[in-house]
Amino acid sequence: MAQTESSDTLRSKLTDIFDDASLETFQKFMISSKDLMSCYRCAIMEIETKFRVLDERFSLAHDRNPIDDIQSRLKSPESIRDKLLRKNLPFTLEAIEENIFDIAGLRIVCSFVDDIYMLADCLLQQDDITLIKRKDYIEKPKVNGYRSLHLIVEVPIFLQDQKKLMKVEVQFRTIAMEFWANLEHQLRYKKNLSSDIIEKTTERLSRCAKLSAHLDMQMQEIKDMIEEA
Ligand code: GTP
Ligand code: MG
Repeated sequence: MAQTESSDTLRSKLTDIFDDASLETFQKFMISSKDLMSCYRCAIMEIETKFRVLDERFSLAHDRNPIDDIQSRLKSPESIRDKLLRKNLPFTLEAIEENIFDIAGLRIVCSFVDDIYMLADCLLQQDDITLIKRKDYIEKPKVNGYRSLHLIVEVPIFLQDQKKLMKVEVQFRTIAMEFWANLEHQLRYKKNLSSDIIEKTTERLSRCAKLSAHLDMQMQEIKDMIEEA
């Protein structure tokens, strides 16, 4: 994974670069990116529909829903600006499209761990979907215990006069993974905490994540027993 700069370095870089004039330039650039942002919104709609269809068909066949919740978001202009700066990229639409893959994001909250892999496979088998990148933090959790399956996929959107390929980040989690990630995010994610407190809390958060992984495993086993009975 790419080395990220410390938030202190980034902040000083932002204040160096962003005087009033360049802030204005960035705002103008974001206005010109309205069309691109609309394309990302369309891509979110395409992917969301695919998952709604999968959930509908699975529930018809198996009498239960593999998807508990679908959330989506478009990356904010501020986050786009920070990411371009962090990666030393220019404020151009090409730089965004070619380098930032999480402008359009969906989170699929699943009932069981198996459902995550089943749904990811179903999505990737569709012939209009191309896999760009896969990160399995369930198989290999982050040091703090973060678990989820992340896919970057490319999906076509069909406009009045053209077809456009858009990149979308899809995060898959169980309800237990979502519970842990939401609380950890509130407490720590991208916050400027001292290294001492990071060290002290990482260990404890990782233990909580292991408990949630244990819960997922138990629930999966109970489901398997019921289905095999
Ligand atoms: P970003 O630049 O933040 O997008 O990260 P990245 O490009 O290194 O990608 P990665 O796949 O590791 O993480 C992308 C997204 O996953 C983040 O924006 C969060 O939504 C989520 N995520 C990753 N790590 C953590 C974590 O430790 N805690 C929580 N709560 N969420 C995380
Ligand atoms: Mg991100």
